[in-house]
Amino acid sequence: MFKQIQYKLLISYLLVLGSVLTVFATAVRIFFTHSLSQQLTDKLKALAQGAATNVEFKQGHLQVENDFQVQELLTRDQALQWFNTEGRLIVQRGKYVLSLPLDTTKHFQIQNQRSVTIQAITLPIIDNDEQQLIGYVRVSQSLKEFDETVRKLDLGLGGGIVISLVLSGVGGIFLTHQAMQPIEKSFQKLKQFTADASHELRSPLMAIKSNVTVALKYPEGMRVSDCQKLQAIASATEQMTALTEDLLLLARSDQINPQGWQLINLNSVLNNLVQIYEIQATAKQIHLQLETVENLFLLGDSSQITRLFRNLIDNALQYTPTGGRVKINASLVNQTILVQVQDTGIGIAPEHQKQIFERFWQVDRARSYHWGNSGLGLAIAQSIAKGHNGVITITSQLGIGSCLTVSLPAKLKTSRK
Ligand SMILES: Nc1ncnc2c1ncn2[C@@H]1O[C@H](COP(=O)(O)OP(=O)(O)OP(=O)(O)O)[C@@H](O)[C@H]1O
Ligand SMILES: [Mg+2]
Repeated sequence: MFKQIQYKLLISYLLVLGSVLTVFATAVRIFFTHSLSQQLTDKLKALAQGAATNVEFKQGHLQVENDFQVQELLTRDQALQWFNTEGRLIVQRGKYVLSLPLDTTKHFQIQNQRSVTIQAITLPIIDNDEQQLIGYVRVSQSLKEFDETVRKLDLGLGGGIVISLVLSGVGGIFLTHQAMQPIEKSFQKLKQFTADASHELRSPLMAIKSNVTVALKYPEGMRVSDCQKLQAIASATEQMTALTEDLLLLARSDQINPQGWQLINLNSVLNNLVQIYEIQATAKQIHLQLETVENLFLLGDSSQITRLFRNLIDNALQYTPTGGRVKINASLVNQTILVQVQDTGIGIAPEHQKQIFERFWQVDRARSYHWGNSGLGLAIAQSIAKGHNGVITITSQLGIGSCLTVSLPAKLKTSRK
């Protein structure tokens, strides 16, 4: 139970940390790529402005001065293109030129050429003397370096998140273990206290019980009302003894010692129980039926396994009205023993089905109290099943009936009758 809480705590912590780191990394990436692309645009603008001044307008024609070093452009993955006012290409320098036609309506142009993305900006060339438009210059740059830088950033951020999560996970395991230890200790102490208290209550209860039994054996000379009071004490003592026994069993439920387990013949356990409960069933006109297969064996604590099925059959008979049916079906499926205790009783509402295995939980507290029930029966049964590496599940329909299925690991193979 504590291990489960520890893992849940660790996973929640890692999820929160992972989300915070992802948000942080996304913000860093957006900010970084934005400023990088701004820098690139500024560089291209400066280059375009320089290129715009390196042209001459002679006899209505645009002429480009031969000042631009192609090599320099190439090493910077840049290129230049000059156009006349009609958009016809006059000259171009550099490798990464756009093959797209000039679009003067767009400040930016982007093109993918053989897995290289090229970004370009276009500026108009204005003649200083005439103050008229004489052409356009388009500066382009391959985004290879930009993409590479962003890829490295992504790698760095992603790697950073993974490393942080791994390190936090390792630290988290240690910290959650440290945090759970005092809780686990106090829980164990509480369990020990319940076990000790239940154990200590046994002797005084036994003393009350035996004294009341002796007193009731000789009722002569006793007033009738006193006799009734003693009978009430006897019944209450009986209930308290059962309750302390149940509490003791629950408190010791996880101290199961598989070394002391013996081979249990489940058929004989179920047959014995059916024989015992037959009287109660007949009195309530309930048809109690057992269907089983041969050689159903399992390893376990015989008295605990008997107790498990006793609690289930007890419930089935108790919560089934007169004239109903209780059917016990035992089978073997893939080395797992499945025992279904099915009744045509009052059933349990879906919203209550999860809670019925909790200690002291009862659907109808007032009625159950009247019957002398404590609400520990199914908690004990589930604890025994889990202690034997099994589980109890429930399917139920209100007003129609319930089916409690016990799954336990089988010891030997079996054949159908
Ligand atoms: N077969 C069943 N049909 C309908 N309701 C059931 C059935 N089995 C259990 N319940 C409901 O689940 C509750 C818990 O059952 P559980 O056996 O733990 O306690 P209990 O029967 O009240 O007391 P006890 O400790 O004496 O068994 C019951 O009070 C009852 O409301
Ligand atoms: Mg019960």
